[in-house]
Amino acid sequence: MSVHISAERGEIAETVLLPGDPLRAEFAAEKFLKDAVCYNRVRGMLGFTGNWKGTRVSIQGTGMGIPSLNIYVNELLRDFGARTLVRIGSCGSYRREVALRDLVIAMTASTDSAHNKLRFDGMDYAPAANYELFSTACRLAAERELTFHAGGILSSDTFYQDDPDAWKHWAQYGVLAVEMEANGLYTLAARAGARALAICTVSDSLVTKEALTPDERQSTFADMIELALDAAVEA
Ligand code: HPA
Repeated sequence: MSVHISAERGEIAETVLLPGDPLRAEFAAEKFLKDAVCYNRVRGMLGFTGNWKGTRVSIQGTGMGIPSLNIYVNELLRDFGARTLVRIGSCGSYRREVALRDLVIAMTASTDSAHNKLRFDGMDYAPAANYELFSTACRLAAERELTFHAGGILSSDTFYQDDPDAWKHWAQYGVLAVEMEANGLYTLAARAGARALAICTVSDSLVTKEALTPDERQSTFADMIELALDAAVEA
């Protein structure tokens, strides 16, 4: 038992997929894991453990934003022995070549959050994906002929910005897309000597203002979940 996860130690696998949306955790566990068992319902933040191609895997919702993800990832690392963590999320494209439904595999994640300024006493820390996970995910995505982009993303604390053009500054510096969690995940995994990766499906575009419908989101997410499961167990 930890503060926010009502599982016994041993009920959660060393390999954990991390969707923001707990209902996506349920969808992924039911669709992809064999013998999936729900181990957490505290605050509705569902978590499941089952089998993927013979390897035990858990899928734990994190909620939205670095503070929420950091609660679950801290507890998974400290209290449940998680060693490989792969975020599966959605993102908003910052660049024209990054189209709706494409995958973004995050090498690094910048942030407008202060959480690492606090941790590093005002200095900058550059959180990075684990190379084995990252390179395996890129190789598998290429083999499957999935359209993907590998590069930097932004983990923002604000979904709704006062300045509607603020994203353009990040885009100019090569940032591919925005989400709200990867920077926290990479930081905490690094501190624990664990491996982390974030893979996101482009659900909307700041450039073209297009967005996927909820039904389209569900179907395109299936490719990403399968890719994340395979990368996590192969790497
Ligand atoms: N902003 C932040 N997070 C997101 C977005 C966005 O536009 N789209 C999907 N996740």
